[in-house]
Amino acid sequence: MILQVDRVTKRFGGLVALDSVDLAVEEGEILGVIGPNGAGKSTLLNVIAGAHKSTSGTISLCGERITGLSASQICRRGIGRTFQIPKPFGRMSALENVLVASTFGDPTLRGDALARAEHTLEFVGFTADPETPAGSLNTAHLRRLDLARALASRPRLLLLDESAAGLTPNELSDLQGLVLRIREQGVSILIVEHLMRLIMELCDRIAVLHYGQVLAVGTAAEICRNEQVATAYLGEQYLL
Ligand SMILES: Nc1ncnc2c1ncn2[C@@H]1O[C@H](COP(=O)(O)OP(=O)(O)O)[C@@H](O)[C@H]1O
Ligand SMILES: [Mg+2]
Repeated sequence: MILQVDRVTKRFGGLVALDSVDLAVEEGEILGVIGPNGAGKSTLLNVIAGAHKSTSGTISLCGERITGLSASQICRRGIGRTFQIPKPFGRMSALENVLVASTFGDPTLRGDALARAEHTLEFVGFTADPETPAGSLNTAHLRRLDLARALASRPRLLLLDESAAGLTPNELSDLQGLVLRIREQGVSILIVEHLMRLIMELCDRIAVLHYGQVLAVGTAAEICRNEQVATAYLGEQYLL
C-alpha cells in the first residue's frame, strides 16, 4: 500500500469537510476521487499533501506515518501534487518554475536539475517556449507546467486536482495518455476529477466522496451500479 488514510477528519470551525475518511492507494494504482462540489475532494488532497493539518486520523506513505509533517517534508517523502488553480511563480519562466521543484525535491541531484527540468517539461508535452514567464501561459500550458513542477520532485505518489478543467477534447486525450505514461514510470496516482468519462477510463478504482464521507469505493462498473452513489451524485444516466 503506497498511501493509507485512516479515519481522517478535517474541520473548518463548525464545518466537517472530511468525516472519518478511510482510503488507500495501492502501489501502481490510479485511484479516482469523485464527488459533488464541496464534497471535500480538494481538502483531502490538501490534508494528504500537508497543506492543511487534519483534525484527527492518520496518514501513512509506504507504511510510514506522515501525519503532521509540513508540506515540504511530505513533498520530500515522495508526494507530488497539482493545484485546482495552479499558482506558479508568475514572473519566473516556465523552466525556472520546474527547476525550483527539481532542485527542491532532491537537493542531492542539483547537478543535473536543469536537464531534468527540461526533460520533465518535454515529458508533459509543454510545447511553449520554456523561457515564457509562467504568468502569461494559457490554461493548457499552465496545467502542464503545474504537472511538470509536481513531477520534477520525483514523487512516488502524485495527487492531481481537476487537471482536466478548462481543457479542449484534444488536450483531454493528451492528458489521459500522459497520466498513463506517468503511471508506467512507477508513480501511483490519486486523481480528483469532475469529468466522469476521464475517471471511468483512467482509474483502477474510484472513491465517491459525499459531504466529507466516503460513500463507496470500487471499479468504474461497481460505482456505476451502486444505487447509493446514483442517488447521491451521478444521476440515472450513469447507471449501466
Ligand atoms: N480553507 C478553508 N476554510 C474554510 N472552509 C473550507 C476551506 N477549504 C474548504 N472549505 C470547505 O470545505 C468543504 C469542502 O471543500 P473542498 O474540499 O474544496 O470541496 P471540493 O474540492 O470537493 O469541491 C466546502 O464546504 C468548503 O467550503
Ligand atoms: Mg476542489
